[in-house]
Amino acid sequence: MKSIHVNLDKYSYQVFIEKGILKQVGKLTSQIINPGKAVIVTDKTVEALYAKIVLHSLSETNFDVKLVSIDPGEEQKSISTAEILYETLFNHKVDRKSVIFALGGGVIGDLTGFVAATFMRGIPFIQIPTTLLSQVDSSVGGKVAVNHLRGKNMIGCFYQPKAVFIDTDTLHTLPKEEMVAGMVEVIKYGMIRDAAFFEYLEKHLPEILELDDTTLEEIIYNSCWNKAQIVEIDEKEEGIRAILNYGHTIGHALEALTSYKKYRHGEAVAIGMIYATKIAIAMNLTDDTVLKRQETLLNRLGLSLSYNTLNPHDIVRTLYQDKKTIGGKLRLVLPTKIGNVIVSDKSDDKIVLNSLTSDTVSILN
Ligand code: NAD
Ligand code: GLY
Repeated sequence: MKSIHVNLDKYSYQVFIEKGILKQVGKLTSQIINPGKAVIVTDKTVEALYAKIVLHSLSETNFDVKLVSIDPGEEQKSISTAEILYETLFNHKVDRKSVIFALGGGVIGDLTGFVAATFMRGIPFIQIPTTLLSQVDSSVGGKVAVNHLRGKNMIGCFYQPKAVFIDTDTLHTLPKEEMVAGMVEVIKYGMIRDAAFFEYLEKHLPEILELDDTTLEEIIYNSCWNKAQIVEIDEKEEGIRAILNYGHTIGHALEALTSYKKYRHGEAVAIGMIYATKIAIAMNLTDDTVLKRQETLLNRLGLSLSYNTLNPHDIVRTLYQDKKTIGGKLRLVLPTKIGNVIVSDKSDDKIVLNSLTSDTVSILN
């Protein structure tokens, strides 16, 4: 079993990665939390595939488990769904010694984490991510949130899980487009701080797309390790953690302008990474080879993102509504080379607009 220790003093925890780990959830949890009341939050798709295994494992180790399953979809990351979950927790007589499991993708993880953080001012929760995106990104680092009409993830906090259990088996049922969207975040780690990992991805992409378990374990381990390194230094995103947002500022603007319906998160981030690189080239921070290598790798994922006619002026306007905009200045994460980025507030609207109106990126067709 591979594991990573996320060192956050008394909020430290382990990320465990192993094929088939779902069957061990009860045993592993009982080593951290005394068996008692437990609630599994999942969505209907994941429930049908994996809830039984986790329920069985927890019951075997004497947890008194209640399962609650919601419809899949980003719309569920809402205060109203959180209220339904609070009701379930009250009905099941959950208290601060109980534990809640988030079994599913990032939507379930973010929502369940938010509920865990706020119910009785915080009860223990454990992440069991089942999409690649949630395994390499959202389950580690403690960002939990629900959406608000005014914006995505606007109501939330930092609240770390007690453990993260990652089962590569779950990726075998994941739709190809979800796998590809998750791979964008994996490539992001290579871009922001790990050139050797980027090269590894260039070399081993075929095995990844064929879902070879050993290679999957390797990329999930490397991604979580890179994320843990950053979160340990800057848990609350006061500095370096911002580099995890590479591709996200423009990505979020594209998602917002298309009402979160046109792109998966990872797809929007892929476009954001390409435009961030174009901006960096315009600012003489980097060169064409960095753009080409990213475009080539993203193309090999089979990303097919239809060109949309968003107005670049609207994109720029939306950039200013991002949570990361401070004092009315754009802050963008820009690459200098493969494996290194900087956070810059030196780009102005003109540079951004020019980059957005230059040739369309080649992953758009
Ligand atoms: P998701 O949770 O919506 O899951 C995608 C789809 O896959 C859903 O329909 C789900 O039912 C299905 N699914 C999940 N696991 C499956 C499996 N093993 N087999 C088959 N189907 C499966 O999407 P996501 O991409 O995992 O997460 C996106 C969310 O994550 C967004 O809300 C985003 O804001 C959030 N996020 C949070 C962070 C963070 O740091 N907290 C980071 C990145 C993204
Ligand atoms: N997904 C970005 C972060 O966790 O900071």
